[in-house]
Amino acid sequence: MAEELIRMEHIHKSYGRIQALTDVNLTVRQGEIVGLLGDNGAGKSTLIKVLSGAVPITSGDIYIKGKKAAITSTTDAIAHGIETIYQDSALVPQLSIARNLFLGREPIKGPNFLGRLDEAMMNQVARDLLKRVGISKNIPPTTNIGSLSGGERQAVAIARAMYFDSDLIILDEPTNNLGVAETQGVLRFVRGARDSGHSCIFIAHNIHHVFQVVDRIVVMRRGTVVADDIDPKTSTVESVERVITGEDH
Ligand SMILES: Nc1ncnc2c1ncn2[C@@H]1O[C@H](COP(=O)(O)OP(=O)(O)OP(=O)(O)O)[C@@H](O)[C@H]1O
Ligand SMILES: [Mg+2]
Repeated sequence: MAEELIRMEHIHKSYGRIQALTDVNLTVRQGEIVGLLGDNGAGKSTLIKVLSGAVPITSGDIYIKGKKAAITSTTDAIAHGIETIYQDSALVPQLSIARNLFLGREPIKGPNFLGRLDEAMMNQVARDLLKRVGISKNIPPTTNIGSLSGGERQAVAIARAMYFDSDLIILDEPTNNLGVAETQGVLRFVRGARDSGHSCIFIAHNIHHVFQVVDRIVVMRRGTVVADDIDPKTSTVESVERVITGEDH
C-alpha cells in the first residue's frame, strides 16, 4: 500500500458556539484520490480549510509524511505542498492570468536587489499551461481573470497546482456551475493528477462525478466522519446516498 501523505487526527473545529468538526480523522495516501461527501453543512469545507490553513484549528494534529506540521496560514499549506482550488478561488480578478499563476511566487529577473518581475517568463509558462489544462480558445495570458468564465478560472487555478507540482490538490466543489465540457476537463485533470502520482481530495455534491474519479470515498455527517473506506468500484451510488443521509441505520 502506498505511503501516507496526510494524516489528520482528532480534529475539532468550532466557530464560536457552532461545533463544525468533532473528532475527525482523515488519512490520504500518496497518489490517492479521496472523495469527500456529505450533505450541506456536514463540515467538508471546514475540514479542508483547516488543512489548507484558511481557518485556525481548534484542536487536533496534522501530520505530513509522518511529521507533525503546524499549518497556520495558506502560505504554510502551500509550503507543505498543499494547494486548494475553489471555484473563483484565491484568484485576483484585477490581475492577469499569468500573474495569478505565480501569485506569491513571482519569478524575479536579474540580481535580487534590482529584481523585476520576469513577465516574459510568466507569460510563456501561462500560455503552455492553458493549453495543457485544455483551454483550446486562444486566450492571451495577459487577460485579466475578471473577464474569464467560471470554468476558465477553474482551469487557471488547476494550472497553478500543476505547475508548482503540489503533493496534495484539494478541490472543493470544482464542478459547480461548470458546463459539460468544462466539467469533463476537471474530471480529466483529477485522473491525470493520480496518474502522475499526486494525491487529491475531491469534494462534490454530484456523486456521479465523485464515483467517476476517486479511489476511496469518505462521508461526513454533522461534523463527523461516518464512513472512511467506501470503494466506489464495489459500492452503488444509492448505498452511498444512504450513508450521506443517515438512512443506513
Ligand atoms: N465562518 C463560519 N462561521 C460560523 N459557522 C460556520 C462558518 N463556516 C462554516 N460554519 C458552519 O460549520 C458547519 C459546517 O460547514 P461547512 O461549510 O464545512 O459544510 P460543508 O460540508 O462544506 O457544506 P456544503 O456542502 O454546503 O458546502 C455548518 O453548520 C456551517 O454553518
Ligand atoms: Mg462546502
